[in-house]
Amino acid sequence: MKRREFLSSTLAIAAAGLAPRSARAADGLVEVLLGESLGDIAPELHGHFTEHIGSVIYNGVWVGENSKIPNVGGIRKALVDHMRQLHAPVIRWPGGCFADSYNWRDGVGPRSQRPVRTNFWVASKQLCDAPAGPQKYDPNTFGTAEFMRFCQQCGSQPYVAANVRSMTPHDFDEWVEYCNSPAGSTTLAQTRAADGSREPYNVTYWGVGNEPWGCGGDFHPEEYAEEFRRFTSWVPAYGLDLRFIGAGPGADYRDPQISWTRGFLESLVARRPRLLSRLYGFSMHYYCGTSGDGDSLKFTADDWYQLLWQADAMDSLITQHWLAMGDYDKEHKVKLVVDEWGAWHKTTTLGSAYLFGYIPSMRDALVSAITLDVFNRHADKLAMCNNAQLVNNINTLFLAMEDRFAATPIFHVFDMYKSHQGGRSLRMLCDAPDISYGKGKTFWGLAGSASLHGKTLVVTVVNSHASDPRTVEVSLRGGEAKSARVTELAEADIHAHNDFDHSNAVMPRTAPATVSGSRFSWTFKPASVTKLEIELA
Ligand code: AHR
Repeated sequence: MKRREFLSSTLAIAAAGLAPRSARAADGLVEVLLGESLGDIAPELHGHFTEHIGSVIYNGVWVGENSKIPNVGGIRKALVDHMRQLHAPVIRWPGGCFADSYNWRDGVGPRSQRPVRTNFWVASKQLCDAPAGPQKYDPNTFGTAEFMRFCQQCGSQPYVAANVRSMTPHDFDEWVEYCNSPAGSTTLAQTRAADGSREPYNVTYWGVGNEPWGCGGDFHPEEYAEEFRRFTSWVPAYGLDLRFIGAGPGADYRDPQISWTRGFLESLVARRPRLLSRLYGFSMHYYCGTSGDGDSLKFTADDWYQLLWQADAMDSLITQHWLAMGDYDKEHKVKLVVDEWGAWHKTTTLGSAYLFGYIPSMRDALVSAITLDVFNRHADKLAMCNNAQLVNNINTLFLAMEDRFAATPIFHVFDMYKSHQGGRSLRMLCDAPDISYGKGKTFWGLAGSASLHGKTLVVTVVNSHASDPRTVEVSLRGGEAKSARVTELAEADIHAHNDFDHSNAVMPRTAPATVSGSRFSWTFKPASVTKLEIELA
């Protein structure tokens, strides 16, 4: 519903004396349509990503068994504890670009005998200037067995990206064999047992390369379609339903690159239409970058709105790619996978070994909330989404340095939004005055998503205004609130953040909310993320 229509209907109700006092004072509307489903929110839409890049793995996830830092079998305990709290559904690994340089055999067998290899990212100037360390020369102490243990500890499913640029389909088959062949059945099953797991890992999510148009091989879409066919042909399944994810575009709102999506699908289908059935998901990457000086903590109000606007472009990118996919997959059997997303700032501030590592602020928290709301609203189209990345990198949930550890505001958003997982996404209309910024630019005032879980309705709303609260009428079409509680992530300063010395500076607050009936007034704080958990009558 457009704002003008909403205001005229509100005025008509008020004139008839029907509107409660609070509704008359409202400057907008949040309306949840309890009868209109947008699909089920797969928990995997709130997934994660860990690459051998900067200090994600070494010093982030992996600290080593003999470390003084609390760990479980070498894996940082604080990280696992937080991941369990999140109900983290899935973790992607080992890249990213690193995946297409990775020989999985380097990361199996006794850790002391594994080879040290030059990390893919050493080519970046910043890492090149860093002192020698595992970020530059990967000791392979964190390999497949360690990643699987990390997933098991977190209660998450593994999503493994294969190397298409520099290895063969045969190597891929054998990685699947190492992971999934039955206990005691093959030589690689014995290697796996020696690495700590007699039982197979039963990995079902397999990415077929990464960004093949760039670091993943500089392929043309037609060439990559050939590789996808070769890599997914007769892979040993061991009774599992293997889910292959084809590598799609690096989406950009200035240049949506639908050409990659179309070129790949056209080639795949042209060769043999049935090959489409090999494609469980088709991935897309989208990073919203900063304007201004590119520092995660130094920005103006205009930079704030511009980044939120760029994050919100995810909505139309999903729709555009979904429409293009529908031209080749009429029944939409193939789902979209957004396996890298986040706000990517230009300036690394955590140190040269922390490539793309910096401290996220409330601005990044709102980017994340906006993005998760977009995913919830497109639940019918998406199979999985993975924030880039989990720790010490880009849109990071955690900062970890030696024995210091902090959860960022992005973590708190994921923690708030976990209540949506597994729910039925509902249509929700938000109407509030647009905000003007920059030279003639505008951005919406309120947006969010809603999901139903039995008699519990979860509503999340972002108030993007940097300084103004927004009082609106909340309307539940087709239901009534009995009781509710609210969780708010809101800070007076849009630059607020957590760091090692102030790890609880930004924290959400939860309290009972006094709401009842099918219409009530609610004030959303400035620059905030709000979750209402409403018990329906
Ligand atoms: O997440 C960092 C990098 O961004 C990934 O390795 C690559 O896939 C993307 O370009």
